[in-house]
Amino acid sequence: MTSAEGRKALPNEPQPVVVPLTHATIFLVLTVNDGAENLTRIRSFCGDLPKLLRAVGFRDLNGNLTCVLGFGSGIWDRLFSAPRPKELHPFIEIRAGKRHAPATPGDILLHIRAEREDLCFELATQIMASLGDAVAVADEVYGFRYFEQRDLLGFVDGTENPVNQAAIDAALIGDEDPAFEAGSYVIVQKYLHDLARWNALQTEMQERIIGRTKLADIELDDAVKPTSAHNALTTIEENGVEVKILRENMAFGRVGAGEFGTYFIGYARKPARTELMLQNMFVGRPPGNYDRILDFSTAVTGGLFFVPSQTFIDSVTPDDPVVTSGADSESASTPAASPAADGSLGIGSLKGESHE
Ligand code: HEM
Repeated sequence: MTSAEGRKALPNEPQPVVVPLTHATIFLVLTVNDGAENLTRIRSFCGDLPKLLRAVGFRDLNGNLTCVLGFGSGIWDRLFSAPRPKELHPFIEIRAGKRHAPATPGDILLHIRAEREDLCFELATQIMASLGDAVAVADEVYGFRYFEQRDLLGFVDGTENPVNQAAIDAALIGDEDPAFEAGSYVIVQKYLHDLARWNALQTEMQERIIGRTKLADIELDDAVKPTSAHNALTTIEENGVEVKILRENMAFGRVGAGEFGTYFIGYARKPARTELMLQNMFVGRPPGNYDRILDFSTAVTGGLFFVPSQTFIDSVTPDDPVVTSGADSESASTPAASPAADGSLGIGSLKGESHE
């Protein structure tokens, strides 16, 4: 696509998926209430979110307030007439032995991050005021950064995350799905830990479960690291090359309720990567050789969401279907793209075909 000045359009701008670690997070998983007016309100919210971010974020410029907005498989087609992200599907539940990765309700994910809880809290409040009764809250988790980036199991969490360009390559879609370039697939799971049992293990045993030393966070040597270690089962390859996802797990809990948890969040350009890691953890590689973290941790939620580019979000209007930048700009004016009987622009199938 070329602009009037003859300049080639910039690639899509991503949402703030790849950002430096922050100290506070709010994870909001929402379901959308029935009714066309609620869909309109959510599309209109897409235009409001950047304004809310500017208003709240400007109160502390060092606060690094960001928000990522994702949509579940079930709501996508009801909101947008644009083609569907190629790999968008519901979270795949896993059952293996006593282990269970449940799929739980969720149409919208908001991943709010900042250096300060009050910035996160204020943005979440403004977001919920903007969405009003169009949505219901399915899950709400206030995550905090624990000592030295540790999870509540006591291990440093995030060390082997890709950084810089490698993080972008791991998390953001490239030309494999041009209509959704700079988007991302995110999988979230809320885990609750049985800390009393975990803390009763000897440190050496915990280290063999995680695959790293506890104090210094050094990877165990292959000679001593079991094939069931967490970091062994989550190391995967595509065509013989190791591939990564981008994680930003946060600790959460309620001491009085005895609740100690890890909120897992993993962004990937292909959801199959995170799904393979989950299969390896829950079923085992080979089957039965599962992740012993799961003997001490229970997944209580599970969701898969698509995070479109910021460019896509900015192009959403309250009533009109979205035309993504990956579309052939001429197609919107061809007869085939004129309003269809169902009221949509009817360009979804056109675009779908062009990428086969
Ligand atoms: C109970 C929940 C979880 C906890 C407490 C946990 C904790 C950890 C820790 C301590 C590490 C080692 C340090 C690091 O490199 O980050 C790690 C690594 C890793 N985890 Fe998890 N994790 C959890 C769930 C998951 C899930 C569900 C996935 C993916 C589906 C995952 C994927 C990974 C990956 C890819 C690595 C890096 C492996 C490597 O390249 O060495 N984790 N995790």
